Amino acid sequence: MRTVYINGKFVPENEAKISIFDRSFLFSHGVYEVTSVLNGGLIDHQGHVRRLSRSLANAQIPFELISDDILKVQKRLIELNQLQEGLIYLQVSRGAEDRDFIPSESLKPTIIMFTQEKALLNPPQVVDGIKVISVDDIRWRRRDVKAVGLLAPVLAKEEARCKGAQDAWMIEDGYITEGTSNNAYILTKENTIVTRQLSHDILHGITREAILAVAMAMDLTIEERPFTLEEAYDAREAFITSASTFVWPVVEINNQEIAQGRPGAITLEIRKKYIDRALANLA
Ligand code: PDD
Repeated sequence: MRTVYINGKFVPENEAKISIFDRSFLFSHGVYEVTSVLNGGLIDHQGHVRRLSRSLANAQIPFELISDDILKVQKRLIELNQLQEGLIYLQVSRGAEDRDFIPSESLKPTIIMFTQEKALLNPPQVVDGIKVISVDDIRWRRRDVKAVGLLAPVLAKEEARCKGAQDAWMIEDGYITEGTSNNAYILTKENTIVTRQLSHDILHGITREAILAVAMAMDLTIEERPFTLEEAYDAREAFITSASTFVWPVVEINNQEIAQGRPGAITLEIRKKYIDRALANLA
């Protein structure tokens, strides 16, 4: 049984209880972060705390965030659960009180964290690549806030599963925004990496930031702009990034093969360099 963290306490997972009045539950009034763990250390800790702080402010959740305190709790959870490879999930909700759209000013936020074991270094998706479908991007317009209302990606992933794919790329006004829980990239025939620029339209991936730095160090040209499905079908390689995947090659989009249906060489090189860099900078 796992030990989890809730409002200042470490408890067995079956003793951690959240109120039915919690605003995350009733209104999706909560924000979250997923941080990956390798060799018992955290990847990109500072970046995740920085984004959490922005999400909290945008969701009007008055939570005093102290990076060192979060790190201490996360390190303790890793130790208590002997986690070597996997994820730490963290969620802060506006708190629990009788249902009302406007929260009381004095209401205290709820914070929880738990660990999850997951194969990150050698999952089958890296060997085989993944297939994606395209779906309409039906999400709200502040996708830069990492909020817990995730019905749109849940439905998109389910549609992908029904169609024999592993994920979906979301389309708005003819252009790909991002994956359901990851950022989306193509590598053109001219070896240029194209990924959508940061704005309210996509989540500002922490892995994205690191990947672009890695690609730059590899002397690849980077274009941060929207791209179309047609460009993606014509791409040399395609991939996704997130804390829970690092870099996964995309080998099929809407049943059209990319890179002859095999993980691209440059994608795999970026992935390797990203992991090396992460391992050298664990918190
Ligand atoms: N998802 N875009 C969306 C919509 C996401 O949900 C995520 C992360 C990303 C990538 O962000 P990062 O590189 O910081 O993980 C992009 C997490 C992993 C999740 O919801 O499980």
